[in-house]
Amino acid sequence: MASTQAFAVGALLIVSFLHLVRCDIIVGSTPLNSGTFDKIVPRFKAVLVKFDQMYPYGEEHDEFKKVASSGQVQEELLIAEVNVDDIAEQEQNKELAERYKAKKDDFPVYKLFLQGRTEPIDYTGNKKSSDEIIRFIVAESGLWLGLPGCMEEFDQLAKSFFKATGDEQKAVYEKVQTAAAAITDEKKKLSADVYVKTMQKILEKGKEFVQSELTRVDKLGKGKLSEKKKAQLKNRSNILMSFKHLLKDEL
Ligand SMILES: *[C@@H]1O[C@H](CO)[C@@H](O)[C@H](O)[C@H]1NC(C)=O
Repeated sequence: MASTQAFAVGALLIVSFLHLVRCDIIVGSTPLNSGTFDKIVPRFKAVLVKFDQMYPYGEEHDEFKKVASSGQVQEELLIAEVNVDDIAEQEQNKELAERYKAKKDDFPVYKLFLQGRTEPIDYTGNKKSSDEIIRFIVAESGLWLGLPGCMEEFDQLAKSFFKATGDEQKAVYEKVQTAAAAITDEKKKLSADVYVKTMQKILEKGKEFVQSELTRVDKLGKGKLSEKKKAQLKNRSNILMSFKHLLKDEL
């Protein structure tokens, strides 16, 4: 009995020790160092790099894990980490951090590298919001990530909608109406209705509606509203981002 207990305690200690030396692999994220950075980064359309201390933890790091997980759906996007140790003797990635002016006091520092551009884009938003970080990636890279609220079937329909013209476009719109009417789940219905309304408005007012509505919704979302209403607006904004992304593709 005693030996089983001792074994259990020993095992626990080992597990927690392993945890301390950071054995936790972050799903969807690739650690980079000075030997691999220049080989890997140029291969992707977009790479989000998090410069951070050697053993990051806490809320900001947890949000990063969510970003890494969301990034998996997009093949052209890489989510990466550069973990920096500046202690003499065991220095790691110090020169990478210096090259990109990622300062220790600012860690975690996010930078987005776009293919064909030498200077990365700095992320200046909230580091405790994976949502905001993801939106930054989508907005700057034009790459598609399934944001909350968006529905794949409707994103596909929106794509056909932009490809079509005249009566064809109206036909796609009617298809969207039918598909939306068939949805019974309340939350999905909310999303589907945003697709319907957006297409209706585009038919009436033209493509410019997407950007002006996005601006309006984002502004509205910053006001004094219930959390629920804010979440709904966020979903709506995400769907509009999806439209915006499709428009960008078209150009
Ligand atoms: C936003 O969309 C997600 C699905 O992507 C859903 O789970 C969530 O409930 C929606 N939020 C609101 C407030 O409708």
